[in-house]
Amino acid sequence: MSKTRVHIFDTTLRDGEQSPGASLNVEEKLEIARQLEKLGVDVIEAGFPISSPGDFEAVRRISALVGDVTVCGLTRAREKDIDVAWDALRGAKRPRIHTGLGVSKSHLQHKLKMTEDQALEVGVNAVRHARKLGCEDIEYFTEDSGRAEPEYLYRVLEAVIKAGATVLNIPDTTGYLTPEEYGALFRGILEHVPGSENVTLSCHCHNDLGMATANALAAVRNGARQIECTVNGIGERAGNTSLEEVTMALVTRRDSFGLDVGLHTEEIYNTSRMVSQMTGILVQPNKAIVGANAFAHSSGIHQDGVLKERTTYEIIDPKSIGIMESKIILSARSGRHGVRHRLEELGITFGPADEFEKIYERFLKVADSKKVVYDEDLKAIVSDSITTVPQTYELERVQVACGDNAIPTATVELRHDGKVMRDADTGNGPVDAVYRAINRIVRVPNDLIEFTVQSVTEGIDAMADVTIRLRSDSNIYTGRSAHTDIVVASAKAYVQALNKQLDRTSGRPVPMLDHV
Ligand code: KIV
Ligand code: ZN
Repeated sequence: MSKTRVHIFDTTLRDGEQSPGASLNVEEKLEIARQLEKLGVDVIEAGFPISSPGDFEAVRRISALVGDVTVCGLTRAREKDIDVAWDALRGAKRPRIHTGLGVSKSHLQHKLKMTEDQALEVGVNAVRHARKLGCEDIEYFTEDSGRAEPEYLYRVLEAVIKAGATVLNIPDTTGYLTPEEYGALFRGILEHVPGSENVTLSCHCHNDLGMATANALAAVRNGARQIECTVNGIGERAGNTSLEEVTMALVTRRDSFGLDVGLHTEEIYNTSRMVSQMTGILVQPNKAIVGANAFAHSSGIHQDGVLKERTTYEIIDPKSIGIMESKIILSARSGRHGVRHRLEELGITFGPADEFEKIYERFLKVADSKKVVYDEDLKAIVSDSITTVPQTYELERVQVACGDNAIPTATVELRHDGKVMRDADTGNGPVDAVYRAINRIVRVPNDLIEFTVQSVTEGIDAMADVTIRLRSDSNIYTGRSAHTDIVVASAKAYVQALNKQLDRTSGRPVPMLDHV
């Protein structure tokens, strides 16, 4: 591996999916994996195979799907976990087992209930077992390295290198360290661990103190050559290092870092949108690189500067991450050819011909109620038209009566098994009334725990993008839909989430790492 090349290890489908509420079904994971390959990541951590049949299936199918990208499966330091992961990775051209266990006093005493020596032996045996199975690419994680005694960490790392580990992941699991401390940890490893110069050092940061990106960059300045990150920075608690932030920091400040990444950065924006859409986790507007305001200039002075010369207030060309300004104005008069052409320019691919027809049908309806259909509208239409979840119920019609002196009342019609079912109810507002009326037909218990509305573009005719989350038992289901009518978008988002709830395969518990 070249000394100046930094590998991007994407863990959106594993650590990212551990975000509260981000439950993806297998089809969605495959679609994201396809996009990650297009983006050019070096490693896809596709899941934690022993944690559920869904994770096993996702790792198995992603292994068969992607070409040169390394596919990685997470395991605890247990033989059974490693056997199952190896089985799931069988079809991969470049399979990697990612195993390990905790190294901090807190993890050893309270979670693992082992002495340092016992835990070291368990880790070494896990690596040896993976080797015995024929795995040549073994990544070892020392969980909670950020709060570990460096001497013990060094001892573990030396032992697992000798046992056959090829990549050492040094996670700051709790997001505790500062950039100076995390950088020093990598320097210390290179100085004190024999053999560390011959393996790849990997950084894995969490964002509890908002330092995940800075910490990852400090690690690469001090010898790390793999960054573990997620799209939009999603992940446990406050999330992981964000893929787009570290990538664009390394690209934009190559003069400072002197390091290369192999990503096709023009795919960043599309990937961000896809992950947000599928997980139902919205991107905060002021999020670096991919937030809606990342390239918005609102003050007169800034606007004037940017119009004279973009670089006065922009350090990144939006085009370099795939934000393209449309030269074609789409409206109700645009034909199939124009719409298809613009979709291709935006890098949006779709499957069978009837998928495009569905998009075009939705486009015509939106174009009917809006004069101009912008790129953002088009992307919302596409994600609204293509779904990988069985459509057990489909919204046929929704009608509400509301106002300051009226009792909010909704009538809905849903199509189910070829039949149209109708019901009505009242509520404390139009959306509440719609949801109650839908519940009278679908009848599955759940709690609505989040309801968010965003406007897709600006102006009074903008489409409303509604995201909702339902909880049923310990599972969370998201639904998202965009429409020029906020009540219709709300109803469609709700029906989508209910369909996910009914499609039991998407509802699985979030995997937990409870070692030994
Ligand atoms: O944060 C962490 O320590 C992890 C490991 C399982 C790699 O995600
Ligand atoms: Zn993590």
